[in-house]
Parts: sequence; structure tokens; C-alpha cells
Amino acid sequence: MKVLITGGAGFIGSHVVRLFVSKYPNYTIHNLDKLTYAGNLANLKDIENKPNYKFIKGDIVDAEFIDELFRTEKYNAVIHLAAESHVDRSITNPLEFVMTNVIGTVNLLNASKALYKSDNNLFSKFYHVSTDEVYGALGDEGMFTEETAYDPHSPYSASKASSDHFVRAYHDTYGLPVVISNCSNNYGPNHFPEKLIPLCINNIKHNRPLPIYGKGENVRDWLFVEDHATAIDTIFHKSKLGSTYNIGGHNEWKNIDVIRLLCKLMDNKLDRPEGTNEKLITFVKDRAGHDMRYAIDAAKLQNDLGWVPSVTFEEGLNRTVDWYLSNEEWLNDVTSGNYANYYKEQYVNR
Ligand code: NAD
Ligand code: TYD
Repeated sequence: MKVLITGGAGFIGSHVVRLFVSKYPNYTIHNLDKLTYAGNLANLKDIENKPNYKFIKGDIVDAEFIDELFRTEKYNAVIHLAAESHVDRSITNPLEFVMTNVIGTVNLLNASKALYKSDNNLFSKFYHVSTDEVYGALGDEGMFTEETAYDPHSPYSASKASSDHFVRAYHDTYGLPVVISNCSNNYGPNHFPEKLIPLCINNIKHNRPLPIYGKGENVRDWLFVEDHATAIDTIFHKSKLGSTYNIGGHNEWKNIDVIRLLCKLMDNKLDRPEGTNEKLITFVKDRAGHDMRYAIDAAKLQNDLGWVPSVTFEEGLNRTVDWYLSNEEWLNDVTSGNYANYYKEQYVNR
């Protein structure tokens, strides 16, 4: 089986590539990535020389390049993760999200359709990796199920919702064998330090302010990235074609509580007196259109395919902090002063 994984140099993609390359030595894994600011081949150093792995630098927005690649390589399946992924960036530059997340996805669908039409024994699956953010925001009660109506609020979630619709449309219109998963917030090693958890780990390390949007009351449902990768493995191999699965860890936290826990953990790890890091918490202007609460009902994935998460939040956060503290080179390479100061203009008094 020859599988194309897109976005494999990014945060989640690198964990998926590592899992597939190591677990399935008889598969050939191609990793197609444009290496935007979020793509980093250092994430894959440990597997880059494996005989069943190849990296291809390229842009999914370039339809001609994608068509040619698929014609030459004749992939049996695609796992599509490449995307612009940060909500705040989507507020600043929505068009880039339309280009990569919508047009890029449609380009991959067209190239997959051409292979499928030429020989439907050859092309077996287009797996689209998506987010729970397409469902919009919840109040205090309830969870997103696979039947929840789409209601995206940010340019990021609107672009992912659009790409999900295109994937379903290619199944319904052209019979393309597709599957979609919608996952909650991930955290773990290799997470780009513009997102809440790695940003705060890095800022605590350097004694910088921890920017909490609004009052920190927003709730996210956190899943350790390696658990997302095992869920993708399960869905890739066992799912019913044309179906959708929610992925989550039943692990809801208010942002402020996540950051307080992180502060405590890092007081301990950095040998600072208890309460030192909490003093860095700084409430800043809220994100525009900030979704209040996400919560995933992953019962279908558990009941139908037997997947459950294996890492508790405390264990995952511990492992994540340890990884960032012991991978200074990685962190220094991807951070410039700009990231720590990215939201400086938004700081307001506590
Ligand atoms: P990321 O931003 O860390 O990585 C994205 C990767 O895609 C990068 O390596 C980047 O170089 C590549 N890429 C971007 N534009 C490209 C283009 N035009 N052509 C080729 N490659 C391109 O993102 P992530 O957090 O790893 O997310 C991966 C996928 O999972 C995304 O589709 C995202 O929507 C989805 N997702 C993320 C989360 C999360 O919490 N991070 C949760 C659920 C779903
Ligand atoms: P983020 O990591 O950007 O993921 P997403 O927006 O996809 O959920 O943000 C997680 C939560 O943390 C979200 O409610 C926004 C909030 N947040 C902050 O309070 N401060 C920050 O500096 C960032 C990046 C996020």
C-alpha cells in the first residue's frame, strides 16, 4: 500500500507519519508538505532514513503539481492533514485559509478522483482529518456528535467546514471512497508555540507573561497528540467508507485551569517556589468570535471501532512539559522574539 500523508511535517502530521512508518514497514509512506512556518522536518529526524519513507516538498494549492504527482505515484490512499491551522492567523489572513484548506483539499480530491476513476481497485481511501471547530460553540451543556449541524464562527473553522463539505460531496457525487474525522484540541510534543499550551510552556520557561484571552472561561476538550494518531490509524484501517467519526478524550478544561495546572507543574520542574509561575498570568483582550465551549462525544468511535484514549491529561501534560524542557534546540529554532511578543499589543491590566 502506497499512502500519501499531507502536512506530515506539522504537529499532528509528524506523529501520524512516525506511527505509520514504524508500525507498517510494508507500506510506502510519502509525506507531502509545503514547509510553511508550521512545518518542520526536525519533527521527523528519527524516521527520515527509514526505507519506507519519503519526503516531498510541495504545495497542495498547485493543482498541476498535485495532478502530476498522483499520476506518477499512483497512491492507494491519502491521509490529508495539510492545513493552515491557527484561528488567530485566520482572523488576520482568511484568504490563505481558503487557499490551502479549501482549494488545496479540492485539488487533492480531484487528483484522487482521477486515480479512482482510472482503476477503482487502485485507490481505496481519501481520509480527511478535520476539527471539532466546524460544529461551532456549545453552552454549558451538551456535546458535539457526528449529527451536530455545522456552525463555524472563525475563518479557520469556516474553511475546514467547507473542506469537509467538499469531501462529502465527492463521495456523494462521484462515489469517491472517503472518511472524515473531527477531533478536539490536541496537545503534546512538536506543537508550534503559538498555540495556548506550548506558548505558555515557553513563556513560563522564559518568565514572560501568559496571555489569557478574556476571562479564561472558555472550555476546550484536550487530547494527547499520540492518541489522535492512534485514532487516525484505527479509522484509516477499520472505518466504514463515507462515514464520519468524532475523536476526543472526554477531557474538558477551562483555559485558566489548564494554565494554572501548567504553572504548578512547572514551578515544580523548574524548582521555583509554589505560586511563582501563576504570577505570569495576564488577561488580555478576547479573541474576536471566540467560541465558548467545545466538547466531543466520541461514543461512535469507541462503540464501532473500539478506540479509546490511553493518556490521561496529567500524564500527557507532564510528558509535554518534559519534552519542551529537554528539546531546547527545537524550541529555539522555531521561536523568534516575534512569537513571545505576538499578542503584546493586546495586553490589558489584570
Ligand atoms: P500544523 O499547522 O502544525 O501543520 C500543518 C502542516 O501543513 C504544516 O507542516 C504545513 O507546512 C503544512 N501545510 C500548510 N499549508 C500547506 C500547503 N498549501 N501545501 C502543503 N502543505 C501545507 O497543523 P496541525 O495542528 O498538525 O493540524 C493538522 C490537521 O489536523 C489540520 O488539518 C487541522 O485542521 C487538524 N486538526 C488539528 C487540531 C489541533 O488541535 N491542532 C485538532 C483537530 C484537527
Ligand atoms: P488555541 O491553542 O489557539 O486552539 P483553538 O483556538 O483551536 O481552540 O487556543 C486554545 C484556547 O486558548 C482558545 O480558547 C483560545 C485560548 N488562548 C488564549 O487564551 N491565549 C493564547 O495566547 C492563545 C494562543 C489561545
